[in-house]
Amino acid sequence: MDRPAPEAPGGWPLLGHIVPILRSPLGFLPGLAKYGAVVKIRFGTLPVYVVAHPDAVRDVLVPGDIDYKRGLCFERLKPGLGEGIATASGDEHRRLRTLLQPVFSRERLVEYSTIMRTAAEEAVQKWHDGEVIQADEAMDDLALTALTRSLFRFTATEETAEAIKHGMRELTHSLLKRIVLPPAWERVPTPGNIRFRKAMARMNNAIAEVIDAYRAAGEDRGDVLSALLAVHDDDGKPLSDKELHAQVMTLALTGIEAPGATLGWVLYEIGRNPQVAERVRAELDEILGGRPPEFDDLPKLEYLGRVINEVLRLRTPLLFSRRTLKETSAGGLTIPADAEMIYSPYLLHHDARWFPDPQRFDPDRWLPEKAAKLPKNAYIPFAAGAYQCIGKIFATTELTMMTAVICARWRAELVPGTEVREVASALIRPSRLPMTVRRRATA
Ligand code: HEM
Repeated sequence: MDRPAPEAPGGWPLLGHIVPILRSPLGFLPGLAKYGAVVKIRFGTLPVYVVAHPDAVRDVLVPGDIDYKRGLCFERLKPGLGEGIATASGDEHRRLRTLLQPVFSRERLVEYSTIMRTAAEEAVQKWHDGEVIQADEAMDDLALTALTRSLFRFTATEETAEAIKHGMRELTHSLLKRIVLPPAWERVPTPGNIRFRKAMARMNNAIAEVIDAYRAAGEDRGDVLSALLAVHDDDGKPLSDKELHAQVMTLALTGIEAPGATLGWVLYEIGRNPQVAERVRAELDEILGGRPPEFDDLPKLEYLGRVINEVLRLRTPLLFSRRTLKETSAGGLTIPADAEMIYSPYLLHHDARWFPDPQRFDPDRWLPEKAAKLPKNAYIPFAAGAYQCIGKIFATTELTMMTAVICARWRAELVPGTEVREVASALIRPSRLPMTVRRRATA
């Protein structure tokens, strides 16, 4: 018979592990793997089971919506996001997933890739040789432009885009606190909570206006919102305004912050590893020969693909939740019914058993012969199973396309003496990235 999951030491009376997880999430979470495949911690008095081994990932994520629903993290998102695909569970989730799938068809992705390339080309055109840019902000803006133009190509005014960026930033920055602290905290009128409510209201209004404008125009504009307006379920029923709103909010939440932060880290790693930079540029020159990248070029950029894989290993989403629907077994341990669980791509990706010297940036871990030796589910930047990232190809297309456009023409290096810290909330963001950009001699 399975044993119960072991409890991690270091819990405080009443507070449980809230203090260590808020104080140092990037040290605390990977440190749990030594206690077992699933480890019990406490948020206050609430027991939370942390998945800490690829076999337990298989048991929890792959059955997906049969034995598990979304849990704490997504419930805290619901008041902000509405009933979008990322907060739905079970049958409702499956219905939305089927409805949304056409939004990410190959044909649509080719269109989005052109939007992404244009956005990157426009951004670098504004750079001056030798200038210092704040690369973290520049990459956030790029991801925002790519997503808002892919979502609603013609009505993405600067004001709309700004309202969405601001709202999503507030949401992701406060997410770890929203997960860990009791819900009553959200009602306390702290400056942060007041700012949060204002930002959400502004973003909701902006999105409602865009949806109204699209409904009134009634034409396919080759973007995500047109695709969402065109979807129908088996009974021919389209998405209601409320559902549409929730999906747009969800795509904005999932589709801006993560690619923006990842792009910043990609530039950072390429900028501080001259040999990596050399190989990226040599590959770009060889495959593209100076012309702009097309969708079909992206899989040919194999080395750049390994660089992006490695960035997604090192700076990956921090944690997501699940809740058991019945007593279940994960990694050979018993998890009670109605229990909160957490899986952390960050924890798994920093486990020295699968990734020796885990802090070291080494794209060659992803050489096919080495990657083939990894246990299944040790690397899950986009999760696995029923609830995995529906935007995975959108994201990898965006990361590859934008890095290709930038690095084919520019070198970006961190301003010497800058200390870059990893700031953890729902994602790992760089504290700052002042980088000097120089036009490449060959361009
Ligand atoms: C570097 C970029 C990205 C990363 C690392 C990432 C990661 C993830 C992960 C780990 C999940 C699973 C959450 C869970 O287990 O419950 C997820 C879900 C999701 N992602 Fe992404 N994502 C990225 C970019 C995107 C983009 C660009 C989009 C949309 C354009 C997107 C849309 C979504 C949606 C809609 C879900 C919910 C899927 C569902 O519930 O069926 N993501 N993402």
